[in-house]
Amino acid sequence: METWITAGYEPSLPVTEKSNPLTRDIDKADAKHIVHLLKNCDAEIFKKEWDAHGSYQTLSSESVIQKMVHLAKKVEEILKDPEESLIVMSGCGTSGRLAFLLATSFNGLLKELQHDQIYYYIIAGGDKALLTSQESTEDSPQRGAEMLRMACEGKKRVLFIGISCGLSAPFVAGQIDFCMHNMNVFTPVVIGFNPVKMARNEPICGWPLTFRRVLKRMEELQKSNEAFIINPVLGPEAISGSSRLKGGSATKIVLETIFLAGHEAFFSSKNITVQHILNWMEIYKDVHTVTYSQSDKIAFLVQQVGESLQQSGHVYYVGWSSLGVMGVIDASECIPTFGADIEDVRGFIWKGYDELKNNEGDLSSVGPAFRIGHVDFVNDILPHVSKSDIIIFLFALDDDLRDIETLANQTKLKTSNLHAVYHAYPECSFPIDLKKVFSSVLSVAWPAVPLVSEGYHIKQELSTKWILNAISTGGHILKGKIYCNYMLDLKVTNTKLFKRAVNILQKFTRCSYSESLKALLQAIYDVEELTGAMTDADVIEHTIAASTRTRVLPTALVILIRRCSISEAKSRLDAHPVIREAVEACLAASQD
Ligand code: F6P
Repeated sequence: METWITAGYEPSLPVTEKSNPLTRDIDKADAKHIVHLLKNCDAEIFKKEWDAHGSYQTLSSESVIQKMVHLAKKVEEILKDPEESLIVMSGCGTSGRLAFLLATSFNGLLKELQHDQIYYYIIAGGDKALLTSQESTEDSPQRGAEMLRMACEGKKRVLFIGISCGLSAPFVAGQIDFCMHNMNVFTPVVIGFNPVKMARNEPICGWPLTFRRVLKRMEELQKSNEAFIINPVLGPEAISGSSRLKGGSATKIVLETIFLAGHEAFFSSKNITVQHILNWMEIYKDVHTVTYSQSDKIAFLVQQVGESLQQSGHVYYVGWSSLGVMGVIDASECIPTFGADIEDVRGFIWKGYDELKNNEGDLSSVGPAFRIGHVDFVNDILPHVSKSDIIIFLFALDDDLRDIETLANQTKLKTSNLHAVYHAYPECSFPIDLKKVFSSVLSVAWPAVPLVSEGYHIKQELSTKWILNAISTGGHILKGKIYCNYMLDLKVTNTKLFKRAVNILQKFTRCSYSESLKALLQAIYDVEELTGAMTDADVIEHTIAASTRTRVLPTALVILIRRCSISEAKSRLDAHPVIREAVEACLAASQD
């Protein structure tokens, strides 16, 4: 039995916030070992059972699969009557980005089949959140409900899918609650990866319910198949709480399987059965095997990216088709996950917003980080590329190879630190001249060019997600951003992250809750003595204040470990720009 399942293991934390025993020492691993650990963690997505008592549901549990069958039938019904119906997916951060990816790619498939589009996405913070971190909207149930109401005006039937990996986002709770008040129109669905009893139960500022209470009401409706909670347990994340990893991948797997089964039923009159859904799970498991069969090459890229980040270089993903979108998504996640600067990791897609098909259209006037087309890469980035920057092309051999070759040659004139991650098919050859342009190539081989009916690039997307997640996670580990398997320099920009920060302080200092809270507030408000107004402010106000500060959590940690003033903590951190080294030095000194 896995250690984390035992009753005494981090008992106050839900599974999605626990630390994974597999990756306890990932901060000290070399690139190869990091990839090995991530591979094992990702394999947990497909675990058939966690213990002999079946204490936790998994992705292949009968109850989970049955619900997926039901939902696929709902999708089929909506396809039959598309005019007044909608499937809306919504979430915060990565969950919202996946809602976007799935809505746009499945609408694209319907367009090819000359069928009305039925998918829509909502992301907390709006489309800016597709590219940057907009964490604070996550805390507003009212905003979530309002955005959903506006999206569904005039619709007679809506399948609403709220995604919150931790079953925690107030934004999504507000939407589900809104659905449950309008059951004549809505069928509410929640996707997350904790048991309901571990769903977040803290009071939500200015709102009478908690996420758990919303789910409890949903459980009643679930008995009559009027609502659905899909919440298999995937085990803790490789980096504690980083739900972009397994949570994001499993969200993609669950929803694609449901949508594809619904499409097959409608377009090809196939029966939607439990076996059908299980077959898809096996296909995704193969994607894991195929992808990680390239572990050595992934590790090579992790090492290169780590070296670039250590030298304050940049990482640029330049992608084609939806693989470019995977690059944009992975890049955007580095900001909240690793406290990275918006320029550290950037993604570019072929035709920019014309290809992105996002709700709000072209956002390039918002700021330089919102210029995401290859043209922008050529104009803004290429002229300034330095030796420490690394560029990774992402494509499949059924993409436009001439275009890839042109840009690769243009890039090669500026840097030789140019690499390719590509998907290969027996029907397509990779021109030798093109191959030679890259310093390294990582090729993932598939048995055939994917068909529209099988979701076109969905397997390649997941494979690319795993590779990029490994590259960005591993690169930041090598840069010293992670301590054990915790991100210590996380941005304390919403209530969930605030709670995670206090928990990390308690864990590493063994100080009480109130001592940890006090140190965190000192770091947030940058004061030696807290005023009454500061201690009385609510958590949302603390997170607003924290959003303008850097190194909040590391500063609080040093205050507690060294029992020192905030000014001493800051100068100790200044002496060790690498956060992991700073914390290690303080811990070692405290044991003297
Ligand atoms: O608030 C930050 C964050 O953890 C993101 O990194 C994550 O993608 C998002 O919240 C959504 O979390 P969840 O899916 O659990 O609601």
